[in-house]
Amino acid sequence: TTRAVVRGTGHYLPERVIPNSWFESKVDTTDEWIRTRTGIERRHFAAEGQTTSDLAIRAARAALENAGIAADQIDTIIVATSTPDLTFPAVATMVQAGLGMKHGFAFDVQAVCAGFVYALANADAMIRAGQAKRVLVIGAETFSRIMDWTDRGTCVLFGDGAGALVLEAAEGQGSSADRGILSSDLNSDGTYRDLLYVDGGVSTTGTAGYLRMQGNLVFRHAVEKLAETAHRALERAGLTADQVDWLVPHQANLRIISATAQKMGLPMEKVVLTVADHGNTSAASIPLALSTAAAEGRLTEGDVIVTEAIGGGLSWGSVVLRW
Ligand code: ACO
Repeated sequence: TTRAVVRGTGHYLPERVIPNSWFESKVDTTDEWIRTRTGIERRHFAAEGQTTSDLAIRAARAALENAGIAADQIDTIIVATSTPDLTFPAVATMVQAGLGMKHGFAFDVQAVCAGFVYALANADAMIRAGQAKRVLVIGAETFSRIMDWTDRGTCVLFGDGAGALVLEAAEGQGSSADRGILSSDLNSDGTYRDLLYVDGGVSTTGTAGYLRMQGNLVFRHAVEKLAETAHRALERAGLTADQVDWLVPHQANLRIISATAQKMGLPMEKVVLTVADHGNTSAASIPLALSTAAAEGRLTEGDVIVTEAIGGGLSWGSVVLRW
């Protein structure tokens, strides 16, 4: 069987770091509240004029370099984002041009915070189907552009950034010892639209709009649904939670992450955490966490990694892979 194996990782975070204290003069909040309720200590914000595709291109270059692969060897670019530069064309085609590519095909995936998991599952399906050999999968966001700076319940949570993986087709032996993406589990339920959405768009207001969230309700769904989807993906891979080396969760809130790890029976030593430094970067948070952990030398070949995420839609899912 053909498997999608991770050949390289890369990420980019904008230079501007915003500590929690920055919000104290803007809304009625404290560093203490943000730390204890979310685990976030700081986040990066893109500079004026710096776009999602700018971040994505930097992350992509870093991943290609890490993989030792040139852009002309890439067949497909998939960008997970909800904050594209423009309504169209896709950020992925901007990345394609930015990398100097004229061949292949590129498109965006929009599943908000679950976007990277959706993009990985898409890339895996294309590689298995023989439609692509090498896929650049990127999560890139500039959520700072859709913040309502008067809403303390949301503006303190999000950050900007991008992460990327290079996936390559590899022929496995068909045993679970093989590397690569082993399984995925995707879900959505559009009846939860009002829990988390942006109140603008092309066919409604004609504006970009601002993020609106019923945080405590999203929180409850997250705690319930994330362990479930991870469980289903593991089951599909023929694995159990005790065989997991790393949980690489979407980095929205430390309390959600801890509750999910606990439900899965995983100690926090097995969880990759970047939420303190990055905040919630939506579709970028999982590849940012993977790339950060890889750069720190924490991931070893053969490690079983579970990723999971939930976001607007609601949309949620999990991908299991062997590093
Ligand atoms: N500073 C101080 N107080 C605050 C702040 C703040 N920044 N934000 C909210 N509060 C207050 C609320 O107003 C409320 O006050 P009240 O009781 O007087 O009304 C109180 O804190 C408790 O509010 P809750 O919303 O119940 O607080 P909770 O403990 O749930 O934490 C949070 C809020 C951090 C937003 C949490 O619900 C959360 O993380 N939710 C999930 C977010 C998430 O994961 N989103 C999904 C991914 S994002 C995506 O897909 C784009």
